[in-house]
Amino acid sequence: MILPSHLSVRGGHLYIGEHDTVALAERFGTPLYVTSEDRVRENFRRLSGALSAHYGKVRVLYAAKANGNLAIFRTLASMGAGSDVFSAGEVALALAAGMRPELLLFNGSSKSPADLALAVEKGIRVSVDSPDELRQLDRAAGAAGRTVDIAFRVNPAIDVPTHPKIATGLATSKFGIPAEEILDAYREALAAEHVNPVGVHCHIGSQILAVEPFAREVEVLIDLAADLLDIGVDLSFIDIGGGLGIPYRRETDRAPTPEEYAGAVMPVFLEGIRDLGIEPELWVEPGRWLVADSTVLLSRVNSVKTAHKTFANVDAGFNLLIRPTMYDSYHEVVAANRADAPAVREYSIAGPICETGDVLAKDRMLPELAAGDIVAMLDAGAYGFAMSSQYNSRPRCAEVLLAGEKAALMRRAETIDDLTAPMATPPWQE
Ligand code: LLP
Repeated sequence: MILPSHLSVRGGHLYIGEHDTVALAERFGTPLYVTSEDRVRENFRRLSGALSAHYGKVRVLYAAKANGNLAIFRTLASMGAGSDVFSAGEVALALAAGMRPELLLFNGSSKSPADLALAVEKGIRVSVDSPDELRQLDRAAGAAGRTVDIAFRVNPAIDVPTHPKIATGLATSKFGIPAEEILDAYREALAAEHVNPVGVHCHIGSQILAVEPFAREVEVLIDLAADLLDIGVDLSFIDIGGGLGIPYRRETDRAPTPEEYAGAVMPVFLEGIRDLGIEPELWVEPGRWLVADSTVLLSRVNSVKTAHKTFANVDAGFNLLIRPTMYDSYHEVVAANRADAPAVREYSIAGPICETGDVLAKDRMLPELAAGDIVAMLDAGAYGFAMSSQYNSRPRCAEVLLAGEKAALMRRAETIDDLTAPMATPPWQE
């Protein structure tokens, strides 16, 4: 078993930093998300440092959708991060965490009139996804007597090696404006009274374990920047989105390091802007890379059953971690209270949800498991809790944050009352 540097096995227990996960499970109950703030900081420093080593004008906009806990926003805000925000909720959290509006980019292909008005009111730049949206935003800004800085989301028509549901830069994806229409969109923005085109934005997909697609993306954006210069757009930023993958299968995945990512992307960017004689900021929007490995999901074994295979039935299911069900994703499993015992049996880790697809991990060789044992799913910090639900009327679990020796809730567990609180009784049922 290969573990990242913040995880270790001591006395047979899985540790995160200085914290025994088994003791955390006892103290806070299971299921439980546990996040290392120190690891989030380390990840931010590493990725941001790798890019900034090449160019002084790099901005990291945390992709908030990966993990929307306010404590994570605060951590990243304190390090100077901005945020890629996709909803009014993400805007509110980013601002509450102290991120300045100018460090946010309001993204999305389906923004409501209220979203556009919010961006105008708060002075947040908008990545515009269609000419229709451009006209609506222009009107909204005009009505408020303001001007909004925008980028357009470009569809780069790039195929990337990842799960089809998270390849966002395909010509067939719902995101962005196709290459053949993009210049007209910028011309319209230049002519509009209340929007100011100052950037280009692109995102090719997520969990990408190669660097070439990012280099190709930058080439596409530099070519576009040349055309934009010709029509009179003064570019202050080029946003290449997120997408850098992590090695969920540590034994076999070859994941690019941030230095390799920067080494592929930055020379293309720097040569491109030098040739054009411009010095825009480079924006990146990493989500997964900053937070995924910071977090484990702890669950307790309710029962073990041998049928056509052996199931360890645990108390966390796809209500709390949907990635394996939704994308056939792999998360490493550690028997947290027997972490140094020999792997002797193949188990499938199944959740408590009434669906066959509720299997968090298939056919893993693990130590002998019994009811009461604690199982840790690794790399659960990105799109884990963030995609959780109350399916089967299961309150969501708590999240704990660790910093050095300290451990505290960053979200309490929901209760049954939390399930019923938003429900209303139609008058004829009273
Ligand atoms: N920027 C934009 C515009 C995005 O749409 C995304 C992710 C990101 C940045 C961050 O990408 P990252 O660095 O995290 O790869 N739920 C899926 C992933 C969906 C990604 C959606 N967009 C999963 O669990 O794998």
